[in-house]
Amino acid sequence: MPERLREPHVPDSGDDPLVDECLADEPTGVGRAQPSDDVLYARLLREEVRAEAPHRTLLDVLRVDLGLTGTKENCLEAECGVCTVLLDGQAVNSCILLAAQCAGREVVTIEGLARDGILHPLQQAFIDHGAVQCGYCIPGMILSAKAFLEERPAATEAEVREALAGNLCRCTGYQKIADAVVDAARATSERR
Ligand code: FES
Ligand code: FES
Repeated sequence: MPERLREPHVPDSGDDPLVDECLADEPTGVGRAQPSDDVLYARLLREEVRAEAPHRTLLDVLRVDLGLTGTKENCLEAECGVCTVLLDGQAVNSCILLAAQCAGREVVTIEGLARDGILHPLQQAFIDHGAVQCGYCIPGMILSAKAFLEERPAATEAEVREALAGNLCRCTGYQKIADAVVDAARATSERR
């Protein structure tokens, strides 16, 4: 399973066209937490929101307090990846993170990827490749892929498969998912 928590990385507009296109301005469906021991401040659809009880998990606060149910819940022990979100640009399992650990850091959920009604290239590629069946794993899968492609924009299929090893899918058999991620990476690099 790939490492899920490393030093924070805040993507800037020069990092990658994926970021340029979809996260350049104010992300939507995104939390920008402020330092606090007992309150998580977040931005949801450009509205400031405030969540109490940060000693619950980030997953719980996202789904229950903020209504961001695109982030899924399953094993609750960092084994399946359905709860993956981006924390300062890195893919993390929100089921094992306390909300308090996110104070002052940027949290991006799947709701934050589409901009002005236009899907993120990864989202579109998953649709184009028929890589979504029941869909339960897909938000986490796409966010893990996004974090990986920001570091490896010309990733091979083998590298994609390794990077997504921590995201389990019980439906697709992974081939269509890998194809979608490779195609999204290729399409993005060709536009450079
Ligand atoms: S619910 Fe978090 S990794 Fe499975
Ligand atoms: S599409 Fe059903 S678990 Fe992945």
